[in-house]
Amino acid sequence: MTSVLSPFGPVEADLERLRQNLTRLVSAKHPILAMAAEHLFSVGGKGIRPAIVLLIARATTPDGEITPQHWRLAEITEMIHTASLMHDDVIDASTVRRGVSTVNTLFDNRVAVLAGDYLFGQAAWYLANLDNLEVVKLLSKVIMDLPEGEVRQSLTRFDPDVSLEEYLAKSFYKTASLISGSAKAAGLLSGVSPEVADRLFDFGCNLGIAFQIVDDLLDFTGSAETLGKPVGSDLIQGNLTAPVLFALEEFPQMRELILRELAEPQDLQQVLEWVYQSEGIPRSRQLARDYAQRAAEALQVLPDSEARQALLQMVDYVLERPC
Ligand code: IPE
Ligand code: IPE
Ligand code: MG
Ligand code: MG
Repeated sequence: MTSVLSPFGPVEADLERLRQNLTRLVSAKHPILAMAAEHLFSVGGKGIRPAIVLLIARATTPDGEITPQHWRLAEITEMIHTASLMHDDVIDASTVRRGVSTVNTLFDNRVAVLAGDYLFGQAAWYLANLDNLEVVKLLSKVIMDLPEGEVRQSLTRFDPDVSLEEYLAKSFYKTASLISGSAKAAGLLSGVSPEVADRLFDFGCNLGIAFQIVDDLLDFTGSAETLGKPVGSDLIQGNLTAPVLFALEEFPQMRELILRELAEPQDLQQVLEWVYQSEGIPRSRQLARDYAQRAAEALQVLPDSEARQALLQMVDYVLERPC
Protein backbone atom coordinates (compact mmCIF):
# COMPACT_ATOMS: atom_id res chain seq x y z
CA MET A 1 0.00 0.00 0.00
CA THR A 2 1.69 3.25 -1.05
CA SER A 3 0.62 6.34 0.78
CA VAL A 4 -0.21 9.70 -0.76
CA LEU A 5 1.74 11.60 1.87
CA SER A 6 5.07 9.81 2.02
CA PRO A 7 7.18 10.68 5.05
CA PHE A 8 9.67 7.98 4.27
CA GLY A 9 12.00 10.17 2.17
CA PRO A 10 15.58 8.96 2.70
CA VAL A 11 14.54 5.35 3.33
CA GLU A 12 11.91 4.88 0.60
CA ALA A 13 14.18 2.60 -1.47
CA ASP A 14 15.44 0.81 1.66
CA LEU A 15 11.86 -0.06 2.60
CA GLU A 16 11.26 -1.65 -0.77
CA ARG A 17 14.34 -3.83 -0.25
CA LEU A 18 13.11 -4.69 3.25
CA ARG A 19 9.73 -5.85 1.92
CA GLN A 20 11.40 -8.21 -0.53
CA ASN A 21 13.73 -9.54 2.16
CA LEU A 22 10.86 -10.19 4.54
CA THR A 23 9.03 -12.45 2.15
CA ARG A 24 12.27 -14.35 1.63
CA LEU A 25 13.10 -14.55 5.36
CA VAL A 26 9.78 -15.98 6.39
CA SER A 27 9.85 -19.51 5.18
CA ALA A 28 8.01 -22.22 7.05
CA LYS A 29 8.44 -25.95 6.72
CA HIS A 30 4.69 -26.37 6.56
CA PRO A 31 3.24 -24.99 3.29
CA ILE A 32 0.01 -23.76 4.91
CA LEU A 33 1.92 -21.76 7.51
CA ALA A 34 4.27 -20.40 4.86
CA MET A 35 1.31 -19.33 2.72
CA ALA A 36 -0.45 -17.71 5.66
CA ALA A 37 2.67 -15.91 6.86
CA GLU A 38 3.55 -14.68 3.39
CA HIS A 39 0.01 -13.56 2.69
CA LEU A 40 0.20 -10.24 4.57
CA PHE A 41 3.88 -9.66 3.75
CA SER A 42 3.28 -9.93 0.04
CA VAL A 43 0.75 -7.09 0.19
CA GLY A 44 2.84 -5.05 2.63
CA GLY A 45 1.68 -2.37 5.02
CA LYS A 46 2.75 1.24 5.25
CA GLY A 47 6.02 0.19 6.85
CA ILE A 48 5.97 2.90 9.50
CA ARG A 49 7.82 0.84 12.13
CA PRO A 50 10.73 -0.35 9.97
CA ALA A 51 10.95 3.14 8.44
CA ILE A 52 11.43 4.57 11.94
CA VAL A 53 14.15 2.02 12.72
CA LEU A 54 15.98 2.74 9.45
CA LEU A 55 15.66 6.52 9.86
CA ILE A 56 16.99 6.36 13.44
CA ALA A 57 19.87 4.23 12.14
CA ARG A 58 20.69 6.91 9.55
CA ALA A 59 20.35 9.65 12.17
CA THR A 60 22.62 8.00 14.74
CA THR A 61 25.42 6.20 12.87
CA PRO A 62 28.54 8.32 12.21
CA ASP A 63 28.27 8.21 8.42
CA GLY A 64 24.47 7.88 8.21
CA GLU A 65 24.81 4.24 7.19
CA ILE A 66 22.34 1.47 7.94
CA THR A 67 24.30 -1.45 9.47
CA PRO A 68 23.33 -5.12 8.88
CA GLN A 69 22.14 -5.23 12.51
CA HIS A 70 19.81 -2.27 11.90
CA TRP A 71 18.42 -4.03 8.83
CA ARG A 72 17.72 -7.10 10.87
CA LEU A 73 16.07 -5.04 13.61
CA ALA A 74 13.80 -3.37 11.04
CA GLU A 75 12.80 -6.80 9.71
CA ILE A 76 12.17 -8.17 13.21
CA THR A 77 10.01 -5.14 14.01
CA GLU A 78 7.80 -5.66 10.96
CA MET A 79 7.58 -9.40 11.71
CA ILE A 80 6.38 -8.74 15.26
CA HIS A 81 3.89 -6.15 13.97
CA THR A 82 2.50 -8.48 11.30
CA ALA A 83 2.20 -11.35 13.80
CA SER A 84 0.26 -9.06 16.15
CA LEU A 85 -2.08 -8.07 13.30
CA MET A 86 -2.82 -11.73 12.53
CA HIS A 87 -3.81 -12.31 16.13
CA ASP A 88 -5.64 -8.98 16.38
CA ASP A 89 -7.79 -9.88 13.36
CA VAL A 90 -8.81 -13.12 15.06
CA ILE A 91 -9.71 -11.25 18.26
CA ASP A 92 -11.58 -8.50 16.37
CA ALA A 93 -13.16 -11.03 13.96
CA SER A 94 -11.94 -8.82 11.13
CA THR A 95 -12.32 -9.87 7.50
CA VAL A 96 -10.11 -7.43 5.61
CA ARG A 97 -6.55 -6.21 6.23
CA ARG A 98 -4.26 -4.26 3.89
CA GLY A 99 -7.03 -4.44 1.32
CA VAL A 100 -7.03 -8.25 1.19
CA SER A 101 -8.80 -10.99 3.14
CA THR A 102 -7.42 -11.58 6.61
CA VAL A 103 -5.67 -14.88 7.31
CA ASN A 104 -8.55 -15.90 9.61
CA THR A 105 -10.99 -15.38 6.72
CA LEU A 106 -8.86 -16.86 3.94
CA PHE A 107 -7.92 -19.88 6.06
CA ASP A 108 -9.42 -20.04 9.57
CA ASN A 109 -8.76 -18.91 13.13
CA ARG A 110 -6.57 -21.90 13.88
CA VAL A 111 -4.23 -21.18 10.97
CA ALA A 112 -4.16 -17.45 11.84
CA VAL A 113 -3.21 -18.17 15.46
CA LEU A 114 -0.53 -20.64 14.41
CA ALA A 115 0.85 -18.41 11.67
CA GLY A 116 1.01 -15.49 14.12
CA ASP A 117 2.78 -17.68 16.70
CA TYR A 118 5.10 -18.86 14.01
CA LEU A 119 6.02 -15.29 13.05
CA PHE A 120 6.55 -14.33 16.70
CA GLY A 121 8.83 -17.36 17.03
CA GLN A 122 10.85 -16.43 13.96
CA ALA A 123 11.15 -12.85 15.19
CA ALA A 124 12.44 -14.11 18.57
CA TRP A 125 14.99 -16.29 16.84
CA TYR A 126 16.35 -13.49 14.64
CA LEU A 127 16.30 -11.22 17.70
CA ALA A 128 18.43 -13.59 19.78
CA ASN A 129 20.87 -13.81 16.87
CA LEU A 130 21.49 -10.07 17.07
CA ASP A 131 23.65 -10.98 20.09
CA ASN A 132 22.80 -7.78 21.93
CA LEU A 133 21.32 -8.55 25.33
CA GLU A 134 19.87 -5.08 25.93
CA VAL A 135 18.05 -5.16 22.59
CA VAL A 136 16.84 -8.72 23.26
CA LYS A 137 15.41 -7.60 26.61
CA LEU A 138 13.71 -4.56 25.10
CA LEU A 139 12.01 -6.44 22.30
CA SER A 140 11.06 -9.44 24.47
CA LYS A 141 9.23 -6.97 26.69
CA VAL A 142 7.37 -5.76 23.58
CA ILE A 143 6.31 -9.33 22.78
CA MET A 144 4.99 -9.57 26.38
CA ASP A 145 3.22 -6.21 26.12
CA LEU A 146 1.20 -7.00 22.99
CA PRO A 147 -1.05 -9.67 24.56
CA GLU A 148 -1.23 -7.54 27.72
CA GLY A 149 -2.82 -4.79 25.59
CA GLU A 150 -5.23 -7.17 23.87
CA VAL A 151 -6.25 -8.73 27.21
CA ARG A 152 -6.81 -5.32 28.82
CA GLN A 153 -8.97 -4.34 25.83
CA SER A 154 -10.96 -7.58 25.97
CA LEU A 155 -11.62 -7.15 29.69
CA THR A 156 -13.13 -3.69 29.21
CA ARG A 157 -15.41 -4.41 26.27
CA PHE A 158 -18.70 -2.49 26.56
CA ASP A 159 -17.54 -1.00 29.86
CA PRO A 160 -18.64 2.67 29.87
CA ASP A 161 -16.64 3.25 33.07
CA VAL A 162 -13.29 2.57 31.45
CA SER A 163 -11.13 5.65 32.05
CA LEU A 164 -9.13 7.62 29.53
CA GLU A 165 -6.01 6.63 31.51
CA GLU A 166 -6.82 2.94 31.07
CA TYR A 167 -7.47 3.52 27.36
CA LEU A 168 -4.06 5.20 27.04
CA ALA A 169 -2.31 2.48 29.04
CA LYS A 170 -3.88 -0.17 26.81
CA SER A 171 -2.75 1.80 23.75
CA PHE A 172 0.80 1.80 25.09
CA TYR A 173 0.80 -1.99 25.42
CA LYS A 174 -0.89 -2.66 22.08
CA THR A 175 0.83 -0.11 19.88
CA ALA A 176 3.35 2.24 21.48
CA SER A 177 5.44 -0.48 23.11
CA LEU A 178 6.65 -1.83 19.76
CA ILE A 179 7.35 1.61 18.30
CA SER A 180 9.19 2.84 21.41
CA GLY A 181 11.09 -0.41 21.98
CA SER A 182 12.30 -0.61 18.38
CA ALA A 183 13.18 3.11 18.27
CA LYS A 184 15.34 2.75 21.38
CA ALA A 185 16.84 -0.51 20.11
CA ALA A 186 17.84 1.22 16.85
CA GLY A 187 19.71 3.83 18.90
CA LEU A 188 21.37 1.17 21.07
CA LEU A 189 22.64 -0.64 17.98
CA SER A 190 24.36 2.61 16.99
CA GLY A 191 25.93 2.89 20.44
CA VAL A 192 24.10 6.09 21.51
CA SER A 193 24.32 7.27 25.14
CA PRO A 194 21.70 6.07 27.67
CA GLU A 195 20.18 9.57 27.67
CA VAL A 196 19.70 9.57 23.89
CA ALA A 197 18.35 6.01 24.03
CA ASP A 198 15.74 7.08 26.59
CA ARG A 199 14.65 10.05 24.47
CA LEU A 200 14.26 7.73 21.48
CA PHE A 201 12.02 5.58 23.65
CA ASP A 202 9.98 8.70 24.57
CA PHE A 203 9.73 9.58 20.89
CA GLY A 204 8.34 6.15 20.00
CA CYS A 205 6.06 6.02 23.00
CA ASN A 206 4.38 9.36 22.31
CA LEU A 207 4.25 8.73 18.57
CA GLY A 208 2.74 5.28 19.17
CA ILE A 209 -0.04 6.61 21.34
CA ALA A 210 -0.80 9.38 18.83
CA PHE A 211 -0.81 6.69 16.13
CA GLN A 212 -3.38 4.55 17.98
CA ILE A 213 -5.63 7.55 18.74
CA VAL A 214 -5.59 8.44 15.04
CA ASP A 215 -6.30 4.80 14.16
CA ASP A 216 -9.29 4.90 16.49
CA LEU A 217 -10.45 8.19 14.92
CA LEU A 218 -10.16 6.69 11.44
CA ASP A 219 -12.51 3.92 12.56
CA PHE A 220 -15.14 6.71 12.81
CA THR A 221 -14.06 9.02 10.02
CA GLY A 222 -12.23 6.89 7.44
CA SER A 223 -13.46 4.78 4.56
CA ALA A 224 -12.93 1.04 4.28
CA GLU A 225 -11.60 1.47 0.75
CA THR A 226 -8.83 3.87 1.74
CA LEU A 227 -7.98 2.11 4.98
CA GLY A 228 -7.94 -1.37 3.49
CA LYS A 229 -9.79 -2.61 6.60
CA PRO A 230 -13.38 -2.34 7.83
CA VAL A 231 -14.57 0.85 9.56
CA GLY A 232 -16.94 1.27 12.48
CA SER A 233 -15.95 -2.06 13.91
CA ASP A 234 -14.40 -0.87 17.20
CA LEU A 235 -17.75 0.20 18.63
CA ILE A 236 -19.54 -2.90 17.34
CA GLN A 237 -16.86 -5.02 19.05
CA GLY A 238 -17.32 -3.05 22.28
CA ASN A 239 -13.93 -1.35 22.09
CA LEU A 240 -14.63 2.07 23.54
CA THR A 241 -11.98 4.37 22.11
CA ALA A 242 -11.18 8.06 22.73
CA PRO A 243 -14.07 9.56 20.67
CA VAL A 244 -16.61 7.46 22.60
CA LEU A 245 -15.03 8.12 25.99
CA PHE A 246 -15.20 11.88 25.39
CA ALA A 247 -18.76 11.65 23.98
CA LEU A 248 -19.86 9.76 27.11
CA GLU A 249 -19.07 12.85 29.19
CA GLU A 250 -21.54 14.92 27.15
CA PHE A 251 -24.18 12.22 26.59
CA PRO A 252 -24.33 10.06 29.72
CA GLN A 253 -27.48 8.44 28.30
CA MET A 254 -25.08 6.47 26.04
CA ARG A 255 -24.15 4.33 29.05
CA GLU A 256 -27.38 2.37 29.01
CA LEU A 257 -27.05 1.42 25.32
CA ILE A 258 -23.41 0.44 25.76
CA LEU A 259 -24.19 -1.63 28.86
CA ARG A 260 -26.75 -3.63 26.91
CA GLU A 261 -24.05 -4.14 24.23
CA LEU A 262 -25.97 -2.17 21.58
CA ALA A 263 -28.46 -5.01 21.41
CA GLU A 264 -31.52 -3.03 20.25
CA PRO A 265 -31.80 -2.33 16.49
CA GLN A 266 -31.27 1.47 16.70
CA ASP A 267 -28.58 1.44 19.41
CA LEU A 268 -25.51 1.54 17.19
CA GLN A 269 -26.90 4.36 15.03
CA GLN A 270 -27.90 6.35 18.11
CA VAL A 271 -24.50 6.04 19.77
CA LEU A 272 -22.80 7.02 16.50
CA GLU A 273 -25.02 10.12 16.28
CA TRP A 274 -24.08 11.14 19.79
CA VAL A 275 -20.40 10.63 19.04
CA TYR A 276 -20.63 12.83 15.92
CA GLN A 277 -22.68 15.51 17.75
CA SER A 278 -20.27 15.61 20.66
CA GLU A 279 -16.78 17.08 20.90
CA GLY A 280 -15.44 13.52 20.92
CA ILE A 281 -13.79 13.68 17.51
CA PRO A 282 -12.15 17.12 17.82
CA ARG A 283 -11.03 16.35 21.39
CA SER A 284 -9.46 13.07 20.27
CA ARG A 285 -7.65 14.91 17.45
CA GLN A 286 -6.30 17.36 19.97
CA LEU A 287 -5.17 14.53 22.23
CA ALA A 288 -3.31 12.92 19.31
CA ARG A 289 -1.71 16.30 18.50
CA ASP A 290 -0.52 16.67 22.10
CA TYR A 291 1.22 13.28 22.00
CA ALA A 292 2.66 14.01 18.56
CA GLN A 293 4.06 17.29 19.86
CA ARG A 294 5.86 15.43 22.65
CA ALA A 295 7.23 12.95 20.11
CA ALA A 296 8.61 15.80 18.02
CA GLU A 297 10.21 17.39 21.11
CA ALA A 298 12.01 14.16 21.96
CA LEU A 299 13.69 14.25 18.55
CA GLN A 300 15.61 17.36 19.58
CA VAL A 301 18.10 15.00 21.18
CA LEU A 302 19.31 14.01 17.70
CA PRO A 303 21.75 16.15 15.70
CA ASP A 304 20.17 17.79 12.68
CA SER A 305 20.20 15.61 9.57
CA GLU A 306 18.01 14.65 6.64
CA ALA A 307 16.95 11.55 8.59
CA ARG A 308 15.90 13.61 11.63
CA GLN A 309 13.87 15.87 9.35
CA ALA A 310 12.15 12.80 7.93
CA LEU A 311 11.36 11.58 11.46
CA LEU A 312 9.76 14.96 12.16
CA GLN A 313 7.72 14.57 8.97
CA MET A 314 6.73 11.12 10.19
CA VAL A 315 5.15 12.77 13.23
CA ASP A 316 2.99 14.97 10.95
CA TYR A 317 2.20 12.01 8.74
CA VAL A 318 0.91 10.01 11.70
CA LEU A 319 -1.58 12.81 12.41
CA GLU A 320 -2.66 13.33 8.81
CA ARG A 321 -2.36 9.85 7.37
CA PRO A 322 -5.35 8.87 5.22
CA CYS A 323 -4.86 5.16 5.95
C1 IPE B 1 -2.35 -1.12 12.35
O1 IPE B 1 -1.06 -0.63 12.12
C2 IPE B 1 -2.48 -1.56 13.75
C3 IPE B 1 -2.44 -0.49 14.74
C4 IPE B 1 -1.49 -0.38 15.61
C5 IPE B 1 -3.48 0.49 14.77
P1 IPE B 1 -0.65 0.00 10.72
O2 IPE B 1 -1.68 1.01 10.30
O3 IPE B 1 0.75 0.49 10.81
O4 IPE B 1 -0.73 -1.25 9.76
P2 IPE B 1 -0.02 -1.55 8.38
O5 IPE B 1 1.25 -2.26 8.72
O6 IPE B 1 0.23 -0.24 7.68
O7 IPE B 1 -0.97 -2.43 7.63
C1 IPE C 1 -4.13 -2.33 17.02
O1 IPE C 1 -5.44 -2.38 17.33
C2 IPE C 1 -3.63 -3.72 16.69
C3 IPE C 1 -2.37 -4.09 17.30
C4 IPE C 1 -1.51 -3.27 17.80
C5 IPE C 1 -2.08 -5.52 17.34
P1 IPE C 1 -6.64 -2.22 16.34
O2 IPE C 1 -7.58 -3.34 16.52
O3 IPE C 1 -7.17 -0.82 16.49
O4 IPE C 1 -5.97 -2.32 14.92
P2 IPE C 1 -6.76 -2.39 13.55
O5 IPE C 1 -7.71 -1.23 13.55
O6 IPE C 1 -7.43 -3.71 13.53
O7 IPE C 1 -5.67 -2.23 12.52
MG1 MG D 1 -8.22 -4.77 15.01
MG1 MG E 1 -8.21 0.10 14.80
